[in-house]
Amino acid sequence: MIKPLVAGNWKMHGNTETASHLAAQLVAQWSDRPVAERSVEMVLFPPSVHLSLVKGAVAGSGIAVGAQNLSQHGSGAYTGEISGDMLVDQGCDYVLVGHSERRDLFGESSATVAEKFKAAQSSGLIPILCVGETLRQRQQEQTVAVVTAQIKAVIDCVGMHNVCRAVVAYEPVWAIGTGETASPEQAQQVHRAIRNQLGEVGLSTRLLYGGSVKASNAAELFGQPDINGGLVGGASLEAIEFFNIVKRAE
Ligand code: 13P
Repeated sequence: MIKPLVAGNWKMHGNTETASHLAAQLVAQWSDRPVAERSVEMVLFPPSVHLSLVKGAVAGSGIAVGAQNLSQHGSGAYTGEISGDMLVDQGCDYVLVGHSERRDLFGESSATVAEKFKAAQSSGLIPILCVGETLRQRQQEQTVAVVTAQIKAVIDCVGMHNVCRAVVAYEPVWAIGTGETASPEQAQQVHRAIRNQLGEVGLSTRLLYGGSVKASNAAELFGQPDINGGLVGGASLEAIEFFNIVKRAE
């Protein structure tokens, strides 16, 4: 049995006040049961400057914290970059790697994504490898080819075993922030292809769906056999909505 994971990617939103308020609201909702009895893992991905603040706010609640990005380098003269070790030092357990906004807007190639994935694991972080096709690629029926190629680039770099001990998030680019969601069947089809690609070692790997997940569509998505939770953007900025999504994964 795979323990589902629901992650909130806050992207570049908020300030000190809103970040601490949101974290405190989630802790209040989440703390009604002992950590050991929870059947879902919740992870928050605030902007890097708010990591330590959010980590402090969720301390003892069982909610984990992750970063939205990391450098592929260990340390050195890389102005503006943040290393995996620094994120661990701030209390992170997870890090997003290869989010489509990083790939598209910041030019991260699959090779760079693979290096970042490797750097994350070297620091002891659990990478959430994000993959997904554009609308055009879907229309051209390239979805599975695109997604499996994105994953293969990482397998080639770190090996199947290391990919399988991470988390993979399928986020169709056309469904991110658009209000348009992949249907549960569309999502399951891609998740099944990913599961097949990972083979025997990947039977217990957590596969998340992301792209306009809301409380109203989460249950159906999370109910698919190869979907083990979600990576939530916009809806994770609202405590009640996000908490309701988390509950749908139970
Ligand atoms: P939305 O939930 O806002 O579509 O964002 C999805 C996403 O990019 C999460 O990483």
